[in-house]
Amino acid sequence: MKNVYIGEILKNEEIAQDCFLMRVALHVSFPDPAAGQFVMVRVSGIAEPLLARPFSVYSFERQNNSCALDILYRVLGRGTQVMAGLLNGTQVEILGPLGQGFEIKQNKKNIILVGGGMGVAPLTYLALHLNNYMCSSFSTMYFYLGAQNDEALIGVDELKKLSCTAITCTDDGSRGEKGLVTQILLKDLKKFSPEETMIYACGPKPMLKALAKILRKTKYSCQVSLEEKMACGVGACLGCAVPVKSRNSKPAYKRVCADGPVFDINEIVWK
Ligand SMILES: Cc1cc2nc3c(=O)[nH]c(=O)nc-3n(C[C@H](O)[C@H](O)[C@H](O)COP(=O)(O)OP(=O)(O)OC[C@H]3O[C@@H](n4cnc5c(N)ncnc54)[C@H](O)[C@@H]3O)c2cc1C
Ligand code: FES
Repeated sequence: MKNVYIGEILKNEEIAQDCFLMRVALHVSFPDPAAGQFVMVRVSGIAEPLLARPFSVYSFERQNNSCALDILYRVLGRGTQVMAGLLNGTQVEILGPLGQGFEIKQNKKNIILVGGGMGVAPLTYLALHLNNYMCSSFSTMYFYLGAQNDEALIGVDELKKLSCTAITCTDDGSRGEKGLVTQILLKDLKKFSPEETMIYACGPKPMLKALAKILRKTKYSCQVSLEEKMACGVGACLGCAVPVKSRNSKPAYKRVCADGPVFDINEIVWK
């Protein structure tokens, strides 16, 4: 496959319980990822797990002779367990950058980012991108970040380096506001005019579904990044298809890997 790159692990540190930050050095020919794009990661030379796993770009830096890609990941199953045990210097296959990233609307004054758990990863890269390239087109950026508890709230320190107001919330109230991130956003939403506001979200499906319900009868624009299980990552196997609204009564599907992972929130059928 033409966009498979062999990367070398520079860093793979546990930054919180079961949560790792991996930095991979890549050849200078690796393209600049757009905010919201992802990569498929596979450990070179091992048979199990055979399939690569998808991860959002958390950060990307280009130097003269190389690039460095950061992935923020939580250990869930076999693939991420294997990744967590990798030492510096190990080679990994990186397929990417893949998918359709966030569309930046130039005419919006307020940016609201809504992240749940590891959904912080693509949104932080988006916030960085907006800070670096788009700073003149919007005046405020709010980052609503939620997790079950203080320990699971990852990436807050990185957010403090960006020009955004971070609102943290935990289900149990152990840090920030107590409640679901969507409930905290709902309390504040009336402060932002729908016409001047763009919402970007990524997180567990129940969070995105709750957001869709909140926004359903409003005029807010919102793009969501979906996380489905993936096999090929390039649109060939249909394993990541999600139901989308169709103009006729026939069911319609889109592939999260190739048509997404970013979609307009109103396009998805939230089951
Ligand atoms: C576009 C995209 C971007 C992603 N970005 C990140 C990221 O930046 N950081 C991160 O930690 N994770 C991210 N994920 C999720 C990540 O791909 C999975 O956690 C990973 O594939 C799990 O692999 P595993 O072999 O460890 O677990 P598996 O053995 O494959 O699964 C273990 C458990 O996790 C569940 N699971 C597996 N894949 C997903 C998924 N995609 N979404 C929700 N639950 C899943 C399974 O149902 C199962 O219960 C992303 C997924 C997608 C599609
Ligand atoms: S993972 Fe194969 S089509 Fe999306």
